[in-house]
Amino acid sequence: MSILITGGAGFIGSHTCVELLQAGYEVVVIDNLSNSHEASLDRVRQITGRDLRFYKADVRDEAMLGRIFTENHIECVIHFAGLKAVGESVRMPLEYYENNLNTTLTLVRAMRAFSVKALVFSSSATVYSSTNAMPLTEDVSRTGDCSNPYGWTKYMQEVMLQDIARADESLSFVLLRYFNPVGAHQSGLIGEDPQGIPNNLMPYISQVAVGRLERLSVFGDDYPTPDGTGVRDYIHVVDLARGHLKAVEYALGHRGCEVFNLGTGRPCSVLEMVRAFSEACGKQIPYVIAPRRPGDLPVVYSNPDKARRMLGFETQKDLKDMCADCWRWQSLNPRGFSE
Ligand code: NAD
Ligand code: WQD
Repeated sequence: MSILITGGAGFIGSHTCVELLQAGYEVVVIDNLSNSHEASLDRVRQITGRDLRFYKADVRDEAMLGRIFTENHIECVIHFAGLKAVGESVRMPLEYYENNLNTTLTLVRAMRAFSVKALVFSSSATVYSSTNAMPLTEDVSRTGDCSNPYGWTKYMQEVMLQDIARADESLSFVLLRYFNPVGAHQSGLIGEDPQGIPNNLMPYISQVAVGRLERLSVFGDDYPTPDGTGVRDYIHVVDLARGHLKAVEYALGHRGCEVFNLGTGRPCSVLEMVRAFSEACGKQIPYVIAPRRPGDLPVVYSNPDKARRMLGFETQKDLKDMCADCWRWQSLNPRGFSE
């Protein structure tokens, strides 16, 4: 059975390709490589000893989607393709709305034309409002009230997909709200390879550790948290990828539209992460305390019960694994895939 993975050359997509291939699925990838390298797919082949089919194309190219659905027997689509940098979305809202909304609309239209019913969509914890109590629970916590265009694109895509699934009861859509994906495959062959200076904590720390950046700025140490620094729910990318396997199985066996958090439910502070990474790489991570980053919440973490109950999904990896695997990837590939 073939699964189409949009954005499959990217960080989460490439790890998901590995899990699907290892589980015996045939994998077809469409990616325009706007934020990734084709080398990641060669590494996926190397890890799994299996081949996958790659189309270098834009998901908004409807004719190309038609070709892909004609040439392959696709049973389910996992839709990762999208732009994802919060700060960039504030500077370039048009590009974000255009890319993120139109990839989804074009994809779902092509799926309808070829009677493909099952879709797994990459949403984000960012769709939750900033005023909720923690932990965040799918059917209880409020959504909307997003603080940036990127967040709104995820929120709007969720609304669109829920409406589309409601109007056609043969469809099966699974919306996955990721918390903070980090780490890398344990082989050290694939991992996160951000362009330019990283915005996110873990890639920033790992580039400090490898000597590409001088020191980390810790954004705020006066939050109402145990050590004053921001608290998040970091999830190992291989656990997250395994979550997609569960979501595909669920989508193929059910109808309707369901939303799931994918997180560990275990809060972790910036300084805890710095300490864990220092232990993993055997070096001190130089840091300075800097002002709070505008828009950051003090604490964000998930209630992972629904995914456990309905998908049978539980994370297996801890903070130590996240740091050790991220460091292996970073130290073996100091310049990412562009070596
Ligand atoms: P990524 O940038 O590594 O992967 C996205 C991939 O999509 C890239 O390979 C890019 O080239 C491709 N792409 C973008 N627009 C495209 C288009 N129009 N046509 C074809 N390909 C296109 O990002 P990621 O971290 O792997 O994230 C995957 C998905 O998960 C994204 O939708 C992102 O918004 C979502 N997400 C990510 C995080 C995170 O922190 N990494 C958290 C929550 C949600
Ligand atoms: C984590 C913590 C920072 C960098 C973002 C997006 C979200 C989702 C995941 C896609 C915070 C602190 C960070 C640094 C720091 N992406 N930090 N110094 O903000 O929780 O979530 O990525 O959907 O939408 O907003 O992740 O890794 O940027 O920050 O002190 O150099 O690390 O203040 O407390 P965030 P992050």
